[in-house]
Amino acid sequence: MKAGISSIGIYIPPLYLSHDDLADARDIPRDKYKIGLGNINMAIVPPWDDPVTMAANAAKMAMEAAGVEKDEIGLLIVSTETGVDQSKPVSSFVHGLLGIGRRSRVYEIKHACYGGTVAIMNAVNWVRSQHHRGKKALVITTDIAKYGLNTAGEPTQGAGAVAFIISDETEFMHFLPSMNAFYSNDVHDFWRPNGYATPMVDGKYSIQCYLDALEFCSHDLQDNLMQETGKHLLDFVDYFIYHLPFTKMAKKAHTKMLATLRPELNEEQIAAIYEADYADKIQPALTGSQQVGNIYTGSVYMCLLSLLESKQEELENKNIGIFSYGSGCGAEFLISHVGRGLQQQLQKLNFRKQIDRRIKISMDEYAAIYGDKDQAAALQMGMELQDADPFSRFIFTGIKEHKRQYVKTGSH
Ligand code: CAA
Repeated sequence: MKAGISSIGIYIPPLYLSHDDLADARDIPRDKYKIGLGNINMAIVPPWDDPVTMAANAAKMAMEAAGVEKDEIGLLIVSTETGVDQSKPVSSFVHGLLGIGRRSRVYEIKHACYGGTVAIMNAVNWVRSQHHRGKKALVITTDIAKYGLNTAGEPTQGAGAVAFIISDETEFMHFLPSMNAFYSNDVHDFWRPNGYATPMVDGKYSIQCYLDALEFCSHDLQDNLMQETGKHLLDFVDYFIYHLPFTKMAKKAHTKMLATLRPELNEEQIAAIYEADYADKIQPALTGSQQVGNIYTGSVYMCLLSLLESKQEELENKNIGIFSYGSGCGAEFLISHVGRGLQQQLQKLNFRKQIDRRIKISMDEYAAIYGDKDQAAALQMGMELQDADPFSRFIFTGIKEHKRQYVKTGSH
């Protein structure tokens, strides 16, 4: 049975910081961020947004794009590594805000940045198993990547949510069954102990762990594909997208994948293939990472949206390899196939419009927001800004009696 994505929604917060301003303030050469990491701007989360509002906003767009009513959702999974409570899942808040019916299975998944792929695959398997009784799944990835002021991870921050309707009624995009390759390993490359607002990270080691996982999965995916189709991965897949903690990771990843699958080539030959692939196959998937930064669980899917928006109908009938990595660590390499209906999807997505609507903030404003000052004033400002932002329908208004409070906003 075919099961796949019928629609996608994305929510990017309305504020951003430029990497040039950050580099100047930190006395780092601008080229280190722009060329060394490949990043240009990063999303900053105002105090009136959080993982719940971002998730609900993205989900609302995905539901509207597919014309799906709240009672048609039978499964709601939220994947996040920015949980707002140690017990109550983000998915319960979202369930309430969206008014999804009670006859539904609702839960949260955590496996660092890999969690989004786990959630999507759970939903796909639920649909394939036919236990869905005609209902659809709503899967949401939502995260705030926040490393702390003046840290090595600071230029790799970002935030956003991506939501998917998964069903058996889609011609738009489906996953090729039984070809996935998996990898798991118990490592401390990036982790956030209980009670800490920002993660611990062993930066260089984390990149090595990522590349080890990719090498392993590339071999397995190639073997699985050969068994199923008799084809080589590099011939079967038209585009490759990768989890991007920062934009330059695409180069490290694609080069590693090519070197793994073409061991007969030397470093220079691999570099030449990468250069030849760049303009058509790599760069189109990078807009989100360059402009928004790392959104953890949704990062690889923001690459997918960037690719879809950039290549449009050229992608119809093409196969896309998706490499998902989460620290800790877990990884999966899977293949999706783009069918029909891309144009209709893109008209409703408004990804570029969301990036363009954002307000640039200064280093002082950034320090105030991420340094957790002026919360009350910022929340008030949020109420005013909300009415002008057509992409934001839900707002966080504070905590009363240890309970997080949300309201629907505006007329949209
Ligand atoms: N001009 C151009 N390039 C420059 C430069 C300049 N003036 N100065 C430095 N560079 C280049 C460096 O040569 C380097 O390039 P290569 O990696 O190609 O060698 C690049 O800029 C980065 O420089 P450094 O390695 O010196 O940077 P750093 O020590 O500040 O650390 C980082 C970079 C490890 C990514 C750090 O930002 C970090 O810890 N980030 C968070 C962790 C992370 O993103 N890990 C990725 C894998 S884990 C994962 O994927 C899960 C997840 O989402 C977190």
